[in-house]
Amino acid sequence: MSLRPPGGRVEVLITREEIDRRIGELAAEISSDYRGQSPLLVGILKGSTLFLADLVRRLDVPHEVDFISISSYGNEQRSSGVVRLLKDLDCDITGRDVLLVEDIVDTGLTLHYIRQNLGTRRPRSLRVVALLDKQERREVDVQVEYVGFVIPDRFVVGYGLDYAEQYRELPHVAVMGPDEEAAAGGREA
Ligand code: PRP
Repeated sequence: MSLRPPGGRVEVLITREEIDRRIGELAAEISSDYRGQSPLLVGILKGSTLFLADLVRRLDVPHEVDFISISSYGNEQRSSGVVRLLKDLDCDITGRDVLLVEDIVDTGLTLHYIRQNLGTRRPRSLRVVALLDKQERREVDVQVEYVGFVIPDRFVVGYGLDYAEQYRELPHVAVMGPDEEAAAGGREA
């Protein structure tokens, strides 16, 4: 499949400046809510990496970072929420204040699985911050305490989000043009 280079047929949806501003607001809210605590921020690989890196640099509470990686089994099973744990956390979260960091919530199945899985490990608290929320695509009810932007049901790339592993490095969030969206075959997020 041929891909056009970044800056080709993609349109900016959220600018780098808008992302920076919103992350500042989220970091202030999170720092205030976790004042006196030392949360563990858990990045969900791989899409959350840029957001996590920018968010932690704006927090003014002590915190730690860990990562988790899951994979869905494919479209049919994905809609039933069947996922596979590829990389577990390095640390024990019993009694910890855990903040999951996501780039985007789409159907909600990924987050639903991770919330359930981590919830069984008895953290003291478990919350979610997601930069993007494609609310109209939701298939399962899942709680997202901090949301950066609610976005329309368009195929988005950039700022950590990929299309066939490309475009993650874009400094902004972009929507792909109609040709690219069609080529993606309805794949979302
Ligand atoms: C994306 C995104 C979320 C998930 C959201 O990950 O980073 O984790 O999809 O979709 P859902 O709400 O429908 O479950 P993806 O599987 O594309 O992996 P990546 O982060 O490694 O790109």
